[in-house]
Amino acid sequence: MTFTWGVATSAYQIEGAAAEDGRTPSIWDTFARDVVGETGDVACDHYHRMPDDVQLVKSLGVDAYRFSVSWPRVQPRGRGPANQAGLDFYDRLVDELLGAGIDPWLTLYHWDLPQELEDAGGWPNRDTAYRFAEYTGLVHQRLHDRVRNWGTVNEPWCVAYLGYEHGVHAPGRKDFRAALAATHHLLLGHGLATALIRKPGTVVGPALNIGTATPASDDPIDIAAARLADGMGTRIFLDPIARGAYPGDVLEHLAARGHGLPIRDGDLKIISAPIDILGVNFYFGQDFAGRDLDGNTVDAAGLPIVREIMPDVPRTALNWPITPDRFTTLLLRLHHDYGIPLAVTENGAVYDDRPDDTGYVADHERTAYIAAHVDAVFAARAAGADVRGYFAWSLMDNFEWAEGYAKRFGLVHVDYETQVRTPKRSALWLRDRVRSGA
Ligand code: FCB
Repeated sequence: MTFTWGVATSAYQIEGAAAEDGRTPSIWDTFARDVVGETGDVACDHYHRMPDDVQLVKSLGVDAYRFSVSWPRVQPRGRGPANQAGLDFYDRLVDELLGAGIDPWLTLYHWDLPQELEDAGGWPNRDTAYRFAEYTGLVHQRLHDRVRNWGTVNEPWCVAYLGYEHGVHAPGRKDFRAALAATHHLLLGHGLATALIRKPGTVVGPALNIGTATPASDDPIDIAAARLADGMGTRIFLDPIARGAYPGDVLEHLAARGHGLPIRDGDLKIISAPIDILGVNFYFGQDFAGRDLDGNTVDAAGLPIVREIMPDVPRTALNWPITPDRFTTLLLRLHHDYGIPLAVTENGAVYDDRPDDTGYVADHERTAYIAAHVDAVFAARAAGADVRGYFAWSLMDNFEWAEGYAKRFGLVHVDYETQVRTPKRSALWLRDRVRSGA
């Protein structure tokens, strides 16, 4: 089985050209302007520099490039006919990639919902799933002859819970019921899109952010807390897709909180449309304890305590723990529990980069992070996990959502004043690692 090496980006984080050629605002344009204070209006100006950026990807020697399509560029009002100028951009991108010998891995939804659809209710509104299917049809019609790898939704947990429960991502709502409805409708949209795209020769799947949910100790209280965290973070998405049913313990927990999911007859059949690959986005693993700092096991409402604990290991500059061993364990667990081929669709790290006079960054720490996680992937493969690819996040520094531009994940440094791109040491390491073979 060949192994695919790649680098990843997403539309809003790099493209810029926010108001060009018919594109309208997405929820991230609004949230970035109103809450973050920095926007993707220009970002890496990729929209205008795309051919050079494709050459940059080629210079890294990778097999594939994972990018996302901007929904408001392709279907500005979130419904109705395609904006041909928007589709033309992705048409050219795909041709540039193929011409450079790079396999396009296209993601349909990486968080930039057209603002008009949010105004109509957003993901908590069932109709958004059908709008997503309609938009998928427009992209598919134009690109299916050249794109083989299709990603449906990226990190639906972040969309639903960071966006609609915690309010720290667009659209910034704080409403648990809305987050649950968003969960179900993101899954429904995923299933509708999958059925539309999937045919012999294509590879279709979602990309989920999956933590390790390790119990803080072997105390049954901690084991139960970790299981609940895993249920609400991972199995609530993965079980309906892979098994056609929401996990029973999760539904019971929600019922105890007076909540449920807006499931209609036939939905789970749609959601469980067969997939070919499960994209795994991994940054760090964490522990869970079932007691708060005072030793209580339930909160004031009588609900179980689930307390996240960051493992006591070195951290990245986002304060995220560095846990490659857990990554191996996670990949093996996904392989054993679900039996779906896996691809690591994102993995990477923020460090405080210090470019020299030429713009070069000797990012030894990021290089070590990526090397350790690549090793973790190969350890999982050696132990039997069917992991078919590794995509580093990210090709280049870009707009890191709520963090703005200060936090840099790129393998390539971007000088935002001049838009000059300079491969960092980590990029050169990846190039050499790819050359040396899987
Ligand atoms: C993931 C997102 C991606 C990037 C990384 C750091 O949650 O999918 O766009 O921001 O985190």
